[in-house]
Amino acid sequence: MDENTYPNAPEIGNWNRLLEGRVAVVTGGAGGIGGAISSLFAEHGAHVEFIDSDAEAAEAKAASITKAGGSARAHVGDVQQFDIVERFATEVLRAHPSVQVLVNNVGDYRPLSRFRESTPDSWKSMFDINLFHMFAVTRAFLDPMIDGGGGSIVNVHSVEGLRGYPGDPVYGAMKAAAAAFTVDLAVGMGRHGVRVNGIGPDLTQTAQVDYIGTSVGHEHLWESWAPVGRVGWPEDQARVALFLASDLSAFVTGHNIPVDGGTKAGGGWFWSPTEQRFVNRPKGL
Ligand SMILES: NC(=O)c1ccc[n+]([C@@H]2O[C@H](COP(=O)([O-])OP(=O)(O)OC[C@H]3O[C@@H](n4cnc5c(N)ncnc54)[C@H](O)[C@@H]3O)[C@@H](O)[C@H]2O)c1
Repeated sequence: MDENTYPNAPEIGNWNRLLEGRVAVVTGGAGGIGGAISSLFAEHGAHVEFIDSDAEAAEAKAASITKAGGSARAHVGDVQQFDIVERFATEVLRAHPSVQVLVNNVGDYRPLSRFRESTPDSWKSMFDINLFHMFAVTRAFLDPMIDGGGGSIVNVHSVEGLRGYPGDPVYGAMKAAAAAFTVDLAVGMGRHGVRVNGIGPDLTQTAQVDYIGTSVGHEHLWESWAPVGRVGWPEDQARVALFLASDLSAFVTGHNIPVDGGTKAGGGWFWSPTEQRFVNRPKGL
């Protein structure tokens, strides 16, 4: 390889437009973390093609991006259905034969089921909502991404896949599998110009985790929940996703980054405001 062909670190260009000219696909891109990712990526110059099962939220998100001067197209559908994923990919690729960014964001811990009460149906539903579409959507867009010259895949899983989680071990297992899928795919895809990384959120205020929100009056507890002394916001996740999607992270692949305000680093220890001591034993399980 001579000096002229050896790939250098890419030029970043305009730091306010980190995804200029790129096509980004986002699942669950209308609300919560996915919604913040769609908006931030569009703000940074990407054309965003997102899919969401909430038709009203999808329309509102596309409209708000357009109003802000960005470019986005909403698709409505449930990514747990393989035919929906196929239709989504066909529609996107017809308009944009290659995509440069893919964010697999859909996932859910509900319905939480204690393992001793869990059933084959609850295991399967955890697989469908947290993993199945990650494989299906990635499979659909990977070859076009490679053929178009490469890109970046960001998988949103959970800090619960990176530490012990007493709530639902099947959920934790699905998220850990998503983290492993991230690492394994990255190793194989590097030579094809595709980077693959993951983010593991914790304590981020969205509709899905409304029990931490202002609506239930838990603000007084936020300070004790994470080492940084606050809960997270969807934008906290979106900024890390932007780093991973853009050339800022051109030499980063195969990593899962906890975006958790330090909860994982804290080892699960937390200060109980009622008991006034460190506790690390979940109650009622
Ligand atoms: N919020 C947190 O604290 C937290 C913590 C750990 C992990 N996560 C993970 O982050 C990701 C995003 O979570 P969130 O909190 O933003 O969730 P959310 O429920 O607030 O938003 C999810 C978005 O995806 C859409 N969606 C849901 N199911 C879908 C489906 N089957 N097909 C298409 N669209 C669908 C929803 O309509 C919504 O717009 C998930 O993978 C979740 O497991 C979140």
